[in-house]
Amino acid sequence: MLSLTIPRAALRSAVAPRQFAAAAAASSVRYASTKSLTEAVAEIVPAKREQLAKLKSEHGDASLGDSKVSHLIGGMRGLKCMLWEGSVLDAEKGITFHGKSIPVCQKELPTAKDIGRPGKEMLPESMLWLLLTGKIPTAEEAKGLSQDLVSRAKLPNFVEKIIDSFPKSLHPMTQFSAAVSALNHDSKFAAAYNAGVKKTEYWQPTLEDSLDLIAKLPAIAARIYYNVFGKGDGKQAVDPNMDIVENFSHMLGYGNSEGLTDYLRLYVAVHSDHEGGNVSAHTAHLVGSALSDPYLAYAAALNGLAGPLHGLANQEVLNWSLELEKAVGSKPTDQQITDYLWDTLKSGRVVPGYGHAVLRQPDPRFTALSQYCDTRPELQESSIVQLVQRLSKLAPSVLKEHGKTKNPYPNVDAGSGCVLYTYGLDEFKFYTVLFGVARAYGALPQLVFDRILGLPIERPKSLSMNALEALLKK
Ligand SMILES: CC(C)(COP(=O)(O)OP(=O)(O)OC[C@H]1O[C@@H](n2cnc3c(N)ncnc32)[C@H](O)[C@@H]1OP(=O)(O)O)[C@@H](O)C(=O)NCCC(=O)NCCS
Repeated sequence: MLSLTIPRAALRSAVAPRQFAAAAAASSVRYASTKSLTEAVAEIVPAKREQLAKLKSEHGDASLGDSKVSHLIGGMRGLKCMLWEGSVLDAEKGITFHGKSIPVCQKELPTAKDIGRPGKEMLPESMLWLLLTGKIPTAEEAKGLSQDLVSRAKLPNFVEKIIDSFPKSLHPMTQFSAAVSALNHDSKFAAAYNAGVKKTEYWQPTLEDSLDLIAKLPAIAARIYYNVFGKGDGKQAVDPNMDIVENFSHMLGYGNSEGLTDYLRLYVAVHSDHEGGNVSAHTAHLVGSALSDPYLAYAAALNGLAGPLHGLANQEVLNWSLELEKAVGSKPTDQQITDYLWDTLKSGRVVPGYGHAVLRQPDPRFTALSQYCDTRPELQESSIVQLVQRLSKLAPSVLKEHGKTKNPYPNVDAGSGCVLYTYGLDEFKFYTVLFGVARAYGALPQLVFDRILGLPIERPKSLSMNALEALLKK
């Protein structure tokens, strides 16, 4: 049985390679009777490595389908060319996290209540544990991880100063990615790598950096929110008795709203991972494959998330829905909504929050967030929530008739913002930052897997159109 004997401050500087493993393992032990996350990950390392070695030796030459010209010019849709452990996205069934659907996770993962906090939703800490280990944590393990993360939440002073120096007019996502990049100053992976740590041990400082980063993202986000919109405590104070999202909600100034706090738990958990091919996840994996540390890899991911076809769509949905209300009033008829959808399409714009590169059914993440609305009277009464729900019934038939979109159903972004808006968090420009807080729970565990498995630098083959034509003539 391990016990907590090494002070955290001492461990923070203990990045010399040989000391690292023991230090990292001891650092996250909070409960002698339960596993720390580091111990739980360490347990799965041999089996994961064995599984990969077997796949390589026994099936290295097996075909997963042809690479076609349409893949090369079509954004690699459907091309199976990336290993991603945490989740798999099925076009019809949606996302599963280590085989578990969102409803199963909601049933099995420890909730706020299970660790003695107000709230019924699954904890992002529990989801993080699942994504990293493939196992459901006990309530004590989830609580231990939560306390570990909260203990890492404080930002270094220089990062606070960097954020404070940004003009308010700089988009919050740009501020977010710049602040995350700056945290690489304290990267344990970079320090361990420079000190010559063995390749087989890379995963441990990667995990430490990942936990530090996940823990600090709420404080970065809240500081940006305070500077740009003047809401929140301005200090990003942390209460060790609260879980990570509860602290975040307090930092943002919504700590007294149990409805928003619990929503944010669900929001972070369902936005965490969506297999590896989406722009943000893929970017983290790609940049990380050059052995860039988790801060650099995740900052790059955030820049991808900031695109309007990806994470920024949640901001666009709210903008678009409010424009609709402005154009046709707050109690539009079905016909007015339908006409407005057609106007958008005819003007050559996309209907934000609809369509998906992989999904061919309504997004189960959208369903989970909608079901949350059904449980809270204040959300059921909200006109913007009602509008979003009516849109989810009307837009699919319009998009089907329009005939271009392969998936006419709502994706997660269709429903995520209206709840925030109802609870008073109505600064749309901040919405993608919340997505960025959440996506780290999935993208960073994969970096840990990448290093457990010793995956190589990513280097697909590109061709010019001339080279392609020459190849096709052969
Ligand atoms: C998500 C998205 C980028 C997927 O793109 P994709 O895989 O290329 O989607 P499709 O294969 O269905 O696209 C085929 C055509 O339908 C169009 N289309 C897709 N979704 C559409 C939408 N919601 N509204 C209007 N047109 C849409 C595409 O722009 C494309 O048109 P083009 O041939 O003129 O380029 C796309 O559906 C989209 O732009 N949705 C709106 C933005 C959004 O909600 N993003 C968040 C995703 S989680």
